[in-house]
Formats: sequence, structure tokens, C-alpha cells
Amino acid sequence: MALEVIVLAAGMGKRMHSSLPKVLHQVAAQPMLFHVLTTAAQLEPQAIHVVLGHGGDQVAAAMQSGLSQELLKRIKICSQSQQLGTAHAVAQALPQVDPKSQVLVLYGDTPLTPKSELEHLLQVLNEGADLSLLTAQLDNPTGYGRIVRDAQGAVLGIVEEKDASAEQKAIREINTGMIATTGQILRDSLPQIGNHNAQGEYYLTDLAGLLVQAGRKVAGVACAPENIALLSGVNNKLQLAQVERLYQEHKAQQFLLDGLTLADPKRFDLRGELTFGHDCFIDINVIISGKVSLGNNVVIGAGCVLQDVTIGDNSIISPYTIMERSQLKVHTTVGPFARLRPGNVLEDEVHIGNFVEVKNSHIGLGTKAGHLTYLGDSEIGAGTNIGAGTITCNYDGANKHRTTIGNNVFVGSDTQLVAPVTVEDGATIGAGTTVTRTVKANCLVVTRAPWRTIETYQRPTKQPKN
Ligand code: UD1
Ligand code: CA
Repeated sequence: MALEVIVLAAGMGKRMHSSLPKVLHQVAAQPMLFHVLTTAAQLEPQAIHVVLGHGGDQVAAAMQSGLSQELLKRIKICSQSQQLGTAHAVAQALPQVDPKSQVLVLYGDTPLTPKSELEHLLQVLNEGADLSLLTAQLDNPTGYGRIVRDAQGAVLGIVEEKDASAEQKAIREINTGMIATTGQILRDSLPQIGNHNAQGEYYLTDLAGLLVQAGRKVAGVACAPENIALLSGVNNKLQLAQVERLYQEHKAQQFLLDGLTLADPKRFDLRGELTFGHDCFIDINVIISGKVSLGNNVVIGAGCVLQDVTIGDNSIISPYTIMERSQLKVHTTVGPFARLRPGNVLEDEVHIGNFVEVKNSHIGLGTKAGHLTYLGDSEIGAGTNIGAGTITCNYDGANKHRTTIGNNVFVGSDTQLVAPVTVEDGATIGAGTTVTRTVKANCLVVTRAPWRTIETYQRPTKQPKN
């Protein structure tokens, strides 16, 4: 049987107190909805129907710009113009769903739903259930729909918190919201769901009771204890923060088990993808975003922010270094307090020290820029030393220009290189020089103002105050 997934994402999320549609609030720097869609796609469904409503245009635009083409190809958007409840939301997608398909309904506000639990739901359906619902035992079930069972333990139905009696509120088995059934059953049963309840909404959860009354088989599938927390729905910012922490702890645990050393798994944030070789160490409060790849024996100091970078073997990134879209080869040392802006390639053994900013530059083997420097739009050879306070003046107020520096060059401190400009191999630039022309190979240039000594000079003295 083919599989289709319906993801409900039309609700406005009143309890978030935000103008951003709820499903666009982020976990690990990705909208919650994207997490759900990524998991759904892993089940290889024939189609993923996303029901949009509140802020629908904004959500659709975010999907267009943020999701891969491959994922977008599977997605069909349907709109629910008024948010009349979860059953009404599913009904909006239904005309596009093949009645012969198995259907999985997911909620866009439950971002960490594990794939294994969804597979379990589908397995129970394959074993003969007409509806399987994923349930969880919670110490504090407040806010969730409760699973009502008879004395033999068979599911009778789901009662929403706002409609529950005191006795029902004491039930600790809750509805996670994830269900599996068929297109045909939804077609037959959804029209029978009414809205005579505390919220005046068409509840999808009423499907369970309806099917039980019709003598159909409804299976409550308890999720694995280790996954319970991952099925938390996000209705407010407190739950969003809790889900963020869960995600981070989960990832940190996986990395530790895969051999990464984290100084403190509770002070590590992944907002993208990380790969690493053996014996890497990440100190506290590091943020990884985009795609980051570490070789072997790489050390990342405290407080570093790394985005879309590749760092080669035996490199040391010292604390509070910020880098994005750069490639560092082996044995490089960067920081503390360095900033690599996009477009850099640092060859083997390059050293970039404190308060050095580098942008769109290629820096050759073993070259060093140790202190307080700006290198922008530059091509620098091997074995060159860039003195403290060197600045490539790459911008003339209208256009950017390149600076080319050869091999084994010595750039003295406080040099300005007014681009476009070239410094040839083996040249030496005296401290304080403003370079405006080509510096010839193996020569010394210096533009320092001439020395003057005024021996009779009198320093002014402070006037007495009256
Ligand atoms: C829902 C379930 C509850 C379950 C809980 C799990 C119902 C009636 N209740 O409650 O049993 O314990 O989830 O987290 O289903 N949505 C729409 N259109 C609508 C209404 C909602 O698309 O008209 C979407 C929302 O965007 C959200 C999802 O459906 O992604 C769930 O809606 P929400 O209002 O958050 O339901 P809960 O009160 O959390
Ligand atoms: Ca919810």
C-alpha cells in the first residue's frame, strides 16, 4: 500500500504570543515544520500534504526558500482558510489523497517525532488495525488529550483536556497526535465528526471513538520510554526552549558515543550538521551551524562560532573565534578572537592570531598574521609574515580591489596596502609604510615620514584654573 503523509500546520499558535506562524518558530535554527517534513520524507511517502492556514503565505515562502528541491517535489500544499480544528484541517487535504493509501497524520508543532515511532504506527496498521495512535505515559499529562480505555485495556476514545472530567484528567496516557489510518477510513469517517465540544472545534481525536463505536479496530501504540520526551508538542515558548534543549542533548549524546570529546554536552549547540575525525575536542559554548567538518585531532576553543567551515587535521582554533564559509587545511592555528568572514582558504600551517579579520583571501603555506590585522580580497603566498596592524585597503569607496603578496615577504607593522597592489616575492616593507605601487622582489620599501629632532622644544604647561 502506498503511503501519504498529512502534516497539520495551519494553527496560529496563540500561546506563542508572536506574529510568526507557530510552525516557523525554530528548533536548532530550523523551523519546527522542516524537522517534521524531513522525518516524513525519510519514510519515502508518495506525497506529503502540508495543511497551511494562519500565515500560510509566509510558511509557503519559507518552505520554498529553505527546503531542498528534492523534498519540495514531494510536497503538496493545501489551505485551511479558517482554523476550525484538526479534523477539519485533515479534511482539506483529503481530496488530494488516494483512498487506497495508508495515511500518516503528523503535527507541525511536534518537531522531534522519531521516525522509528512512525514506522511502528504503520506496522500496527499493516497488522490489521484500522487506526493506530501513538500514545505516551506522562507524569504530567496537562494540556494533552487523554486516552480512555475500558477495563480490558481496549481504547474507547480520546478526550481533550478541556472536555475531560476530573477522573479523565487523572489519566496519564496521552495522545501524542500522531496517527496512522487509510485514506478510505478518513473519507468515510471525517464527515461524521462534529464540533460539539468545549472549543467548538472539529477534533481529529474524535475519530478514535467513532471507529470504536463502528466496531473497527483502534490500536493505542505506546511509544518507547526513551522517546517520550521527543514527542512533546510545542504550544508556547517554554515548551520551545525545552524541545530545543532535548534536541541538543540528544545530538550531544550521539556525538559523544561516536567519539567526539565535548567539554560539557550541556553547553554545546548544533544548528546544522557536524562531521569529525578521531580525537577532536570541543570546549564549552561552541555553536556549530551550517555544514561543519573537522579532521582528526582538531581542537575548538570555548565560545567559538563555526558556520560552513572545513578544518583540517591537527588544527587548533582558540577561544572566541568566529568563522564562516572558509576552508582551513592541516596544522592551522586561528584565534583567540579571530574572525574569518566568507571565502577564505588557509593552506597548511597558516597562523591567524588575535583580532585579525580575514575575508575572501587565499593564504599560503605557513604564512602568519599574528595580531590586529585586516586581510580582505587578498592572495598571499607561502612563508610570509604579516606584521601587527597591517591593513589591506581593499575598498576605494565604490569598488573592491585585490592585494597580491608573494612568498617570503615581510610586511612590517602598521602597513597599509592600498589595493589594487602587488608585493613581489622576498620583498620587505618597513613598518608604517603606505604601499601604493608594486613592491619589487627582494627590495625594501619604506614610506615613513622623515625623522626630525627639535632639541629646543618646550612642552606646553597647564594653565592654572581661576
Ligand atoms: C492536539 C490534540 C491532542 C494532543 C496534542 C498533542 C486535537 C483536537 N488535539 O492538541 O489530543 O494531545 O495535540 O500535541 O487534535 N491545526 C491545524 N488546523 C486547525 C487546528 C490545528 O492545522 O484548525 C494544527 C496546528 O497548527 C498544530 C496541530 O494541528 O500543528 C495541533 O493543533 P493544536 O491546536 O496545537 O492542538 P493541541 O491543543 O496541542
Ligand atoms: Ca499542539
